[in-house]
Amino acid sequence: MADQVTAFAPASVGNVAVGYDVLGSALDVLGDRVTVRRLDAPGVRIGTITGRVTDLPTTPEQNTASVALSSLRDAAAVDHGFEVSIEKGIPLGSGLGGSAASAVGAVVAGAALLPGTWPPEDLLPHALAGEAVASGDWHPDNVAPCLFGGLQLTRAMDPPDVVSVPVPDRIRCVLVRPHRVVATQEARACLPDHIPLADAVRQSAHLGAFVAGCYREDLALIGRALRDLIVEPHRAALVPGFADVQDAAMDAGALGCSLSGAGPSLFAWTDGPDEAEHVRNEMVDAFDRHDTATDAWISPIPSQGARLVVSRASET
Ligand code: HSE
Repeated sequence: MADQVTAFAPASVGNVAVGYDVLGSALDVLGDRVTVRRLDAPGVRIGTITGRVTDLPTTPEQNTASVALSSLRDAAAVDHGFEVSIEKGIPLGSGLGGSAASAVGAVVAGAALLPGTWPPEDLLPHALAGEAVASGDWHPDNVAPCLFGGLQLTRAMDPPDVVSVPVPDRIRCVLVRPHRVVATQEARACLPDHIPLADAVRQSAHLGAFVAGCYREDLALIGRALRDLIVEPHRAALVPGFADVQDAAMDAGALGCSLSGAGPSLFAWTDGPDEAEHVRNEMVDAFDRHDTATDAWISPIPSQGARLVVSRASET
């Protein structure tokens, strides 16, 4: 039986403009690889942290992966412990769901080393516990798509009620990451505690229309609905050039463009891969005009979420 397992956990776009804290989509262009090793001693410790980010917390109580894994271990009530090592493929503070991916990868790998069967639904609360360490809050918009894949709408968390929303095959997601860091906690602190009822009504209409557009494969309706009227106005100032980049995406034919999660990355949905290349190029050029270097990707919305990639007996 394997005593060391590696999981791949994909990046994700939180909020997807219309569903602050409740909607998110998986990506297939980058992700974290999380390796969990069974230890005889109890507890959870951190092994190595490598890849695009190496300065993550090494205190087990502060790292999203170890907190998620500890929560799972407590639920499983096993005597043995775990060591968790993270190979970060997702840049930190990018708005691409990096903290969620480490937490999800840890529970998917850890569950493979536990007795019994652990369906993804049962792993969700533990991954959320890990993600909460990074953002200071429980929000499922990155964890759910990272775990389940696709586009996920979380109606409620206690008990979890997660709805998988179909995405038309032609949809591509463009991602452009400016080379700067925005801490999710800082981006959440920008938001008001209350919003006007009229704004909530308008945003509800957009979320409902967006989901209907996805089910009906009505890309024109998706294009009319993919707007953030309540959060983006408060966060746009965190990304210099935001309005110009968004305008460039929309002028190039994007169905919608907004912050990916808490930013600073922007995402845009397009009708097809050719449109995606054009939109990506225009967004990158717009950032260039603001003297901002970027990374950019184009991804379909993959139906698969986190999964095991390596399983073996450890060398020790
Ligand atoms: N939904 C959260 C936010 C996290 O916008 O603050 C996004 O990654």
